[in-house]
Amino acid sequence: MLDRLEKERTLTDGEFLEILTTTEYDGELGERADAVRRKVYGDRVFIRGLVEITNYCRNNCYYCGIRRGNRLCTRYRLTEEQIFSCCDEGYGLGFRTFVLQGGEDPRFTDDRICAIVSGIKDRHPDCAVTLSLGEKSRESYGMYRQAGADRYLLRHETADEEHYRKLHPAQLSLENRKRCLFDLKELGYQVGSGFMVGSPYQTSECLVEDLRFLQKLDPDMIGIGPFIHHSQTPFADRPDGSFELTLKLISVLRLMFPHALIPATTALGTINPRGREMGLQRGANVVMPNLSPTGVRELYQLYDNKICTGEESAQCLECLRNRVAAAGYRIVQDIGNVKR
Ligand code: SAM
Ligand code: FES
Repeated sequence: MLDRLEKERTLTDGEFLEILTTTEYDGELGERADAVRRKVYGDRVFIRGLVEITNYCRNNCYYCGIRRGNRLCTRYRLTEEQIFSCCDEGYGLGFRTFVLQGGEDPRFTDDRICAIVSGIKDRHPDCAVTLSLGEKSRESYGMYRQAGADRYLLRHETADEEHYRKLHPAQLSLENRKRCLFDLKELGYQVGSGFMVGSPYQTSECLVEDLRFLQKLDPDMIGIGPFIHHSQTPFADRPDGSFELTLKLISVLRLMFPHALIPATTALGTINPRGREMGLQRGANVVMPNLSPTGVRELYQLYDNKICTGEESAQCLECLRNRVAAAGYRIVQDIGNVKR
């Protein structure tokens, strides 16, 4: 079965379910995924410098620590100068991609976002700018692209309608999330999508739907990480997603999308101290160290116990460089475009 997954990059729903619900294939799956990643990308690991530009958000997703309804969250937004200085510092450290992420904050108007994107591109023309700022109109996405944005990350979160409604208030719809992703593709962005593993009410069937949706979208980047509870959300008492299942899905995705850029996420490193290293060994090829000012990292708390909030960016990168090397890979200084 794994032979077929590797060659044909797909399986029947029943076969996917079997892989997801038994442990029988886990060992071989991980080995095959690593072999495929090494064939396409060698031992190279791309780094993306994450700048968390605002924790204001107009949305109220039930799982998310910076949701509008969390009155206990201390809010911040970075100034343009702060964002530029994070990128300048990152550039000096060897980063060639900057990811600007935040809640959907109306104070970051389209004009402001464009000024920030073009400002970064002017200062660092050899770098990629990735945005992860949520759902916008096609026009807005078009403006950011014109300003120089190269990539956009927008996880679909779950491809199952009913499940989507259990994770989000009625104002948000899967339909619009998908519309955003296809608009972004048409506008020429390198697009990233993905989902949480083990979010409340998720079934194995939901995960198969996620795989099918990704086949349709054919993204360049796929970010998955375990759901981790946040104590000030409606899902405070829900169990965290499974570490092993997340690793398994990384391997399945690597076999389905040999060229994709798949991060070993901070959430994976949060539920297991060796999570990111193990993610790399099972098919991931990207890590996203934090470049945000140390003072705000604690405030961008999507889930409890987020790691790497105390360290300076340089320290964080050094720590990660050692971890990646110990896992048998190598962080490279490269823009890290997808290899199609
Ligand atoms: N507002 C943008 C958006 O909606 O895409 C970007 C920020 S949003 C916080 C980034 C991602 O964090 C989401 O796509 C979601 O998958 C993840 N996330 C949020 N809460 C989480 C939680 N409790 N556990 C794990 N991941 C979470
Ligand atoms: Fe908006 Fe999480 S609810 S970023």
